[in-house]
Amino acid sequence: MARSVYLETFGCQMNTLDSELVLGQLRAQGYQAVDDCQQADVILYNTCSVRDHAEQKVRSRLGELRFLKRKRPGMIIGVLGCMAEREGDHLLHKYPHVDVLCGPAELDKLPLLLHNAAIGGRQVALMGRGVRRSGTRQAAEDNLEMLDLSRSMSLGQSPAQAYVRVTRGCDKFCSYCIVPFTRGPEVHRPPQNIIDDVKRLVAAGAREVTLLGQTVNHYAYQHGDGRTTGFADLLYQIHESATDLPRLRFVTSFPRDFTIQTLQVMRDCRRICRYLHLPAQSGSNRVLGLMNRGYTVEQYRDLIDQARSSMSDVSVASDFIAGFPSETDDDHAASLELIRYCGFKNSFIFKYSPRPGTAAVRRLKDDVPDVVKRRRNNQMLAVQAEVSAQLNQAMVGQSVRVLVEGSSKLAQKAGSPSLVQLGVAGRGLAAPLATAGPSQLVGRTGGDQIVVFDGPSALAGQIVNVRIIEARQMTLVGELQA
Ligand code: SAH
Ligand code: SF4
Ligand code: F3S
Repeated sequence: MARSVYLETFGCQMNTLDSELVLGQLRAQGYQAVDDCQQADVILYNTCSVRDHAEQKVRSRLGELRFLKRKRPGMIIGVLGCMAEREGDHLLHKYPHVDVLCGPAELDKLPLLLHNAAIGGRQVALMGRGVRRSGTRQAAEDNLEMLDLSRSMSLGQSPAQAYVRVTRGCDKFCSYCIVPFTRGPEVHRPPQNIIDDVKRLVAAGAREVTLLGQTVNHYAYQHGDGRTTGFADLLYQIHESATDLPRLRFVTSFPRDFTIQTLQVMRDCRRICRYLHLPAQSGSNRVLGLMNRGYTVEQYRDLIDQARSSMSDVSVASDFIAGFPSETDDDHAASLELIRYCGFKNSFIFKYSPRPGTAAVRRLKDDVPDVVKRRRNNQMLAVQAEVSAQLNQAMVGQSVRVLVEGSSKLAQKAGSPSLVQLGVAGRGLAAPLATAGPSQLVGRTGGDQIVVFDGPSALAGQIVNVRIIEARQMTLVGELQA
């Protein structure tokens, strides 16, 4: 009889993709994915450690499972992803009912771990710190490539939007960030494998492919013969090889690594979306220095100016941290000014959360009181909301191409990853969703603006023309055009 598996995913797009690949592997082994964890033989959480809040959610889930496991001792509980890697054995001490721990760099081994756990005994696969030594690194690279290559795609079966990994891991070591510790060293996939993935996804029905990397534009693949394929080359090659793909995107870009060549390729290749996710983190040079970001506010602004002068219609999103250690009111005011100057489409704004083991925790005191963090966080959200509202207002009357993601109710129910990441599910979209009929559709422009409009649900997955008739803070309201 097939074993049933329940998998819940937290965190970024990398985790969403990893979960999809993991489920693909498990299905191939005869597992059946289910929506109700109470009935599942195997419960898996693919976890995130980026802020304490993300970990809290998993801790409460694990706490609740204690009772279920007591009732059904034969079930298997697995913690995958960044929190498994960060916490390691501590997690097993705190939650003795957890059977499997598997870090993000070891996910190709998961089917085997589950098999062994079913026979008996706890299974742990973590890369540990040793993977930053060469030797083990090559092995890690090869194993990971196996996971990406295991992806199963059948003709016409793929959803309209798909992710393709370009790089794994991160070598930047921003002082506040846990990702380089949980995801390991940055490795780059061979360009041909990426192009093949994109082509196969397009043949299977994908209309939009998003290339993924923690610092996606740092991509540079060294070929055996000494040639290098850089990020601009990769984008161009994908654009030219997958001529039936209407939309190609990429996230997340690292400001210091952005090149003029990439801007030129974006300008010249119309099927590459004019959208940049380019986290600034702070508008203060002093704070950027403490964060180890490697650029100044002036350099960041120059980059935005260059992007806008190559593509007047480029849409830019950013990330900010509120209340980084030692942040003053003046530093904070500089962040507000940067949001206004750059005219971001939206910003993901987070209160600083100390992550154990990072340089910020070792060297800096978390000295901004929580009330101040919260106040600054809210002020940044308010300024960003003003900026977004102005940009949205300027779109009223325009006709835009929209990729339909589905009925707006369903899109929220399914927890559409992109909506959740935008932070709009349950906020900006809450009002229209609450009263939405089955024919209210939600979709996205090439610049990643969310548009709601009435139309037949059969349009899901298609790209249609919509005229914008009203601007709301987080969304645009449109009407379908012939
Ligand atoms: N690789 C991406 C970001 C990955 S983490 C980049 O460099 O832009 C996503 C976002 O979480 C970051 O941009 C940052 O704004 C936020 N973040 C990361 N660590 C954090 C921490 N310790 N506290 C608060 N926010 C954090
Ligand atoms: Fe974290 Fe910085 Fe790497 Fe982004 S670039 S994942 S913020 S260390
Ligand atoms: Fe979270 Fe790991 Fe992604 S820490 S943001 S799931 S890389």
